[in-house]
Amino acid sequence: MLIEKPAQGSSFANLPDAAVDEIFALNHAYIADAHPKKVNLGIGVYRTAEGKPWPLSSVQKIEEQLSRENDAARHEYLPIEGDTVFTKAARDLMFGFSLDAETPAEKAAKQRIASVQTVAGTGANHIGAAFLAHHYKPKHVWVSTPTWANHHTIWDLQGIERKGYPYFNAETCAFDFENAIATLEAEAEEGDVILLHACAHNPTGVDPTKEQWKAIAELCQRKHIFPFFDSAYQGFASGSLEEDAWAVQYFFNMEPRMEMCVAQSFSKNFGLYGHRTGAFHLITNGSNPAEVGLIEKNLCHIIRGEYSMGPKFGSTIVKRVLADPTLRAQWHDDLAVMSSRLIQMRQALYQELLRLKTPGTWEHIVNQIGMFSYTGLTPGQILAMKEEFHIYLLKSGRISISGLSPTNFAYVAQSIDNVVRRGL
Ligand SMILES: Cc1ncc(COP(=O)(O)O)c(C=O)c1O
Repeated sequence: MLIEKPAQGSSFANLPDAAVDEIFALNHAYIADAHPKKVNLGIGVYRTAEGKPWPLSSVQKIEEQLSRENDAARHEYLPIEGDTVFTKAARDLMFGFSLDAETPAEKAAKQRIASVQTVAGTGANHIGAAFLAHHYKPKHVWVSTPTWANHHTIWDLQGIERKGYPYFNAETCAFDFENAIATLEAEAEEGDVILLHACAHNPTGVDPTKEQWKAIAELCQRKHIFPFFDSAYQGFASGSLEEDAWAVQYFFNMEPRMEMCVAQSFSKNFGLYGHRTGAFHLITNGSNPAEVGLIEKNLCHIIRGEYSMGPKFGSTIVKRVLADPTLRAQWHDDLAVMSSRLIQMRQALYQELLRLKTPGTWEHIVNQIGMFSYTGLTPGQILAMKEEFHIYLLKSGRISISGLSPTNFAYVAQSIDNVVRRGL
């Protein structure tokens, strides 16, 4: 005889609603849109003038090499810390060490750095936040207002209280240096962490000047605030790897030495988005040489418990390109191709808005750098861009410049002109 059991209440009935990631949701909406003129200015991925993804020519060379080699060990596990040839090359690129020969000064400087491979830049941000939450225990993490939305999620998941420092001045469309410094000066406490975008600030496309960086570094040093750099666009912003790492290297070389860390992504500058390629570097002040090994062991402990190790394919590509001077030069050319196309598209959109005499000022589109521009469009205008013109951009007004092409920039400019004139 069948005995009916009383229905149990669900264990998850009181699950809180979780925020949907705006960028990926927008991308889905764009894909589902059948309109012939649709434009995707949401997700931050590089696209060619034809609107296509672009495997970098230097990356393709290694893919061909790997395919020819047909190595039976290509699917083996990496060590927990990752491929150390890759993490060392990643470190050298970030901190400006020679990739070919090492000077004695470089050798000594490298001994301050603990490095592990991560699941791209997001994973590096996460491992860094998890390590600091466990072993440094900051009271607060300071993030720019606005910042990449995932910074909020990553730090909230670690249970560290988040505070915002002003970053964007909507009137001048520039970095709000005075208010940022004043807020941090008045409210940041010793032992807090500050999240800094190494270059090409996402979402605003506005970076501090070198003089402003120096003032931020001085403040961190004086107030004992721990700098956490997020470097997702090295070489992609200005086209120069050195220029885009200037702030990181300035902080690193300061005396007295500061402890700091860097989350490094190769998603954009190698076009390896889905291959999840990145590194995390924690920099000691050098006072205890044994510390670096211990930090790496603790980072590995977290990595092992979470996902064992990073993926192999992307790191193999990056290490091989960086090891070969000819391929490295080809990669530099690839970076120049991408960054110059973005600069051209900024100019094209700006010039078209000027030609249309669109009300407002638009210089910020050409003054901002990197992949994004913070347009200043209002929520009503952004909604109309999507609903009426099938142009997809974030609610903050951020556009990904790489979604612009020679065939669609005029349509985008006309649409902006239309929604702005209607004063939505
Ligand atoms: C500021 C910032 N940090 C980190 C990332 C990490 O990207 P990924 O995890 O794809 O390397 C991104 C990508 O959009 C970013 O814009």
